[in-house]
Amino acid sequence: MILGAAKDAFLKTISVMTRRSAVLLPAEAGDESRTLPLSTRYRVEGPRLDIDIHFEGRGWLRAVLLGYETYYPTKRLWTSGPARYEGRTLLSFDLSTGQLRSGAMLWGTIPIAAIGRRFCWRLELTSDDGRTFERMTGHYRAASTAEASSDYFQGANYVDYESQSAAGRRDAAALIEAHPFEGTALEIGCATGALLLELQRLGIPAMGVDFSEWAVEQARGRVGADRVFVADVERQGLPEPIVREAPFGAIVLHAVLEHFGDPLSVLERLTALTRPGSRIFITTTNADSLCHRLFGPDWEGYFDGTHRGVDRVSVEELRRWLTTLGWRIERLDTTLIWDGSADPEHATLRDWWRTDARFRALVAGKDLGDLLTCVATRP
Ligand SMILES: C[S@@+](CC[C@H](N)C(=O)[O-])C[C@H]1O[C@@H](n2cnc3c(N)ncnc32)[C@H](O)[C@@H]1O
Repeated sequence: MILGAAKDAFLKTISVMTRRSAVLLPAEAGDESRTLPLSTRYRVEGPRLDIDIHFEGRGWLRAVLLGYETYYPTKRLWTSGPARYEGRTLLSFDLSTGQLRSGAMLWGTIPIAAIGRRFCWRLELTSDDGRTFERMTGHYRAASTAEASSDYFQGANYVDYESQSAAGRRDAAALIEAHPFEGTALEIGCATGALLLELQRLGIPAMGVDFSEWAVEQARGRVGADRVFVADVERQGLPEPIVREAPFGAIVLHAVLEHFGDPLSVLERLTALTRPGSRIFITTTNADSLCHRLFGPDWEGYFDGTHRGVDRVSVEELRRWLTTLGWRIERLDTTLIWDGSADPEHATLRDWWRTDARFRALVAGKDLGDLLTCVATRP
């Protein structure tokens, strides 16, 4: 914390003195010859992970398997001894047995119980001519979380849902406050009710629905049992007490549209619960984002195994859907580089986003962000 503040003050001083924007990047940003060239997958489907090390020289290779403690890969799960490296090598890691092979050689067996959903390898290679190369990889196991379980909010998808969703929720509340409407707001996928509570605090009457019984129980404790109901909005439609309250002044879909297999049909159903003057507030993923284009199946949008419609939702599609359904779009834009991999090829985009306002403007200007925000009104 103190170190962070000192670093910020130092960079600010240099920026003022040089009239440039000073940033600090990780050491590997300064020299590509330090980075061990390899290819691998962020998303691990099935039990086997391959890491194809491209370096053609000879030397000694070491490997450390790292697990996550909350948000950071700081837990050392296994450390190898040095293994002879004789040129381009395929490491294969079997997550069902814990066996790590370097080419045909069994290099070690790692206790699999210790390996969580996210993990990393840190590889170090010392070549026979004395050069050293390093590389961190980043991986997560594809998981089909039971869709409505408490586990989803407490480990399987979120490390800690309440704290991880807090910033997004503040933004959602500010967005809603900036676009006033008459009447009650209906939040779809309200989870544990924190945004409903926030809306109540702002003096906006709000109701919610979610298909997680566990989450609805928490939400009811927060905002009242007559305000929140359990239903699968896509497969079952809306429960009677909600339908009775229609038309709503606003529909709120915060990080939920991408969960529906057929988002358009859900939007159509929700539009029927509105009237002229109603608003719709949507925060969702953008399938046309820069990260999706670059990383393809390794896009962060696929981390959440319940994102059934994540390939369908984009700026262009949402604009088309809402216009077809008779909404007037007030705002439709994207932001954010969303990527949780520790691999330097992924980290570089995050660093760029964090440190360069021109890059942020480019991403926003070309609708390339991972997070899409939309406000529309029924004329
Ligand atoms: C990513 S969480 C977002 C929660 C909350 N809106 C927020 O932004 O913090 C998605 C929520 O939508 C709910 N959900 C997903 N599919 C649903 C469906 N078909 N019907 C009702 N709720 C659903 C999940 O249970 C979960 O609470």
